[in-house]
Amino acid sequence: MTAAEVTTGPARPSVDASLDEARKPALREYEDFANLTFQLPALNRLLDLVGISPEQDMVDLGCGTGMVTRALLDRRGVGASGRIYAVDPEPAMLEKASKSLEQGASAAVNWVVGRAEDLDRLVPPVDRVLFCNAIHLVEEKTRGLQAIFESLKPQGRLAFNSAYTKDHRPPESEYFYVAWMRQALRALRQDHPDVQRDPSAPRPLAGTDLMSRDEYLDLARQTGFRVVADEVAQVDMPLESWVDISAYSRFVRSVLPGVPLEWAAEALQEGARRAFRRLGLTSVPRNWFQVVLERP
Ligand SMILES: C[S@@+](CC[C@H](N)C(=O)[O-])C[C@H]1O[C@@H](n2cnc3c(N)ncnc32)[C@H](O)[C@@H]1O
Repeated sequence: MTAAEVTTGPARPSVDASLDEARKPALREYEDFANLTFQLPALNRLLDLVGISPEQDMVDLGCGTGMVTRALLDRRGVGASGRIYAVDPEPAMLEKASKSLEQGASAAVNWVVGRAEDLDRLVPPVDRVLFCNAIHLVEEKTRGLQAIFESLKPQGRLAFNSAYTKDHRPPESEYFYVAWMRQALRALRQDHPDVQRDPSAPRPLAGTDLMSRDEYLDLARQTGFRVVADEVAQVDMPLESWVDISAYSRFVRSVLPGVPLEWAAEALQEGARRAFRRLGLTSVPRNWFQVVLERP
């Protein structure tokens, strides 16, 4: 199936380059766009593509702080007959997600600690699995997709998306990446003149460790899935999201290998601000790969 281009609306015009210290995100093992609204059109599109209805049993896999769980509850209603499972390997994430909901809504969700790779042992067969902004974090992708396949009823569907693939940079965004990295290196040298990058240090999100769109689709077919939809949503990402990515430790280690994480993150955050300011940007586009797969 060929990829369709979906544009998710105009960029928010509000960003100038003046995020204050209080809003600086702390270093994390994942990026957290969940409090940013720029990605909601892409999420809503994915939910339209997979098809959501109140009687379905479903899983929000890698639920994080609960953005997708909230969207599912909004669509189905809290009193829907289908069961909803929110699954994440980090208990702290489940707690945050649960606390972000009204008590009645939280009680309507089954909160489950676990990984994609074990999903078939964690939940009974379900109609839908939503796996948003997390598949690139799965270390055993073959096992992960197999476990999701096994956890679906026949004609059950998996919807996933990712902004971390080999194809996530639209060509017209390259100039931003060049400016961002140049400004980040300048900021790093200003604050820490003696620090050196170590090219031999691990780079977990460098291009070679990411999967391409075609690789994901091939793996899905090998697992037994039928590809129902395969789109690239071009999402306009505001400065806040680049500052957020700059606090994502895997990304930070990949871009500035061997540099102490806090220093590297601060330099990347400052680099993003300076690049936006110098280039007069309000947003930068990024490709979000959105897929719906069905178990025959
Ligand atoms: C960037 S957050 C996405 C959260 C949420 N789905 C969203 O879109 O806002 C990624 C989440 O994936 C979880 N995660 C990491 N490895 C995972 C795995 N192997 N299986 C399932 N979830 C995983 C992390 O704990 C984190 O909560």
